[in-house]
Amino acid sequence: MNSKIISLYKNKLSEINKLSQTRKLVLTSRNNNSIVTRNEKTLISFSCNDYLGLSKNKEVVKASIRATKQYGSGSGASRLVSGNNPLYEKLEHLLATYKKSEGACVFGSGYLTNTGIIPALSSNKDILLYDELSHSSTNIGIKLSSAKSINFKHNDSNHVESLLKKYRQKYFHCFILTEGVFSMDGDRGKIKELAFLANKYNASIILDDAHGFGVLGNGRGSLHEYTPIPEILVQMGTLSKAIGSYGGFVTASKTIIRLLHNKARSLIYTTGLPPGSLAASIKSLEIIMSNSKITNKPYQYAKLFCKIAKLPTPESSIVSIIMHSEENAIKASKLFEKYGYYIGAIRPPTVPINTSRLRFTFSSAHKKKDIINLAEHAKNILKRLN
Ligand SMILES: Cc1ncc(COP(=O)(O)O)c(C=O)c1O
Repeated sequence: MNSKIISLYKNKLSEINKLSQTRKLVLTSRNNNSIVTRNEKTLISFSCNDYLGLSKNKEVVKASIRATKQYGSGSGASRLVSGNNPLYEKLEHLLATYKKSEGACVFGSGYLTNTGIIPALSSNKDILLYDELSHSSTNIGIKLSSAKSINFKHNDSNHVESLLKKYRQKYFHCFILTEGVFSMDGDRGKIKELAFLANKYNASIILDDAHGFGVLGNGRGSLHEYTPIPEILVQMGTLSKAIGSYGGFVTASKTIIRLLHNKARSLIYTTGLPPGSLAASIKSLEIIMSNSKITNKPYQYAKLFCKIAKLPTPESSIVSIIMHSEENAIKASKLFEKYGYYIGAIRPPTVPINTSRLRFTFSSAHKKKDIINLAEHAKNILKRLN
């Protein structure tokens, strides 16, 4: 073993530790009703993106088992070789129908979707303007693209317009990248304003709706909160959060979907999804499509929590409380644990320095009384720490 490189890695780890930013994998068993077992403790989790509890839905699990029995546990090859299980066709048809889009394409995960679509759709003649709080997968997609890229101040359409004025003419095409719901803050992207600018400056929007799909717009996603629906070139989403399965997807025109089949490396050079995951996604979508009311509960719970805890009205089913230092966020998380709740402490580099936070996610799998009790504890814990 090369001891020099290992001692370099040890130094890196101790630097991370000095900053209270060490991450550890904790074994977590997810039971029903958002109950988890971690470190032998049973806690109610508010740190899970299974917004509709569908990963535990009996029909969804049954569909997944059935497909695994029929097709096997893995897909055996990439989609373009022999891994394109017939269930893909059904799933993509459902996604396109639900999202009112011409076409859809399912990827291995949301992360793989963003890292594949951004380089596939842009070239070195183009410019990408992206929100400074974009998800890691978008940042990596941008790095893999040959286009020029500039970030804009979070949700600041004036900044976007000043960049468009300065740079638009110099490039063949311009893409504006934003999110329906920002994953760490829970606020919504300024889709309407950006769509207006995209139209004015002949640019196109790529929207990451990982946290809006299944929750906002009666489940159809963030865009469906607006009338008329803003024009977006490509929407991406995930099957791993509200859908309770695994995978990612885009909805777009048929031409774009065909181009992605030919150009998106994270689709072409990776194995297709396990058939059980595809079947679970199909069943979850069928459940949502036949009863859109179930999609509204996570956001209602977030609003109830904020009302009782005397926090500002949330914009989604994600609520973040900024604790500033890493130590304070960890302390708050431990206090919640004492009262029987698991709330993750989110620290840099996931979020900017001095914005360490508690991030609560609400699910229809929670019980109303859990939300009320959690909010009462939150009031006391926050008073104690501030
Ligand atoms: C905004 C955003 N985009 C993309 C992803 C990636 O999705 P997946 O978990 O399916 O890889 C996430 C996941 O956390 C996310 O929050």
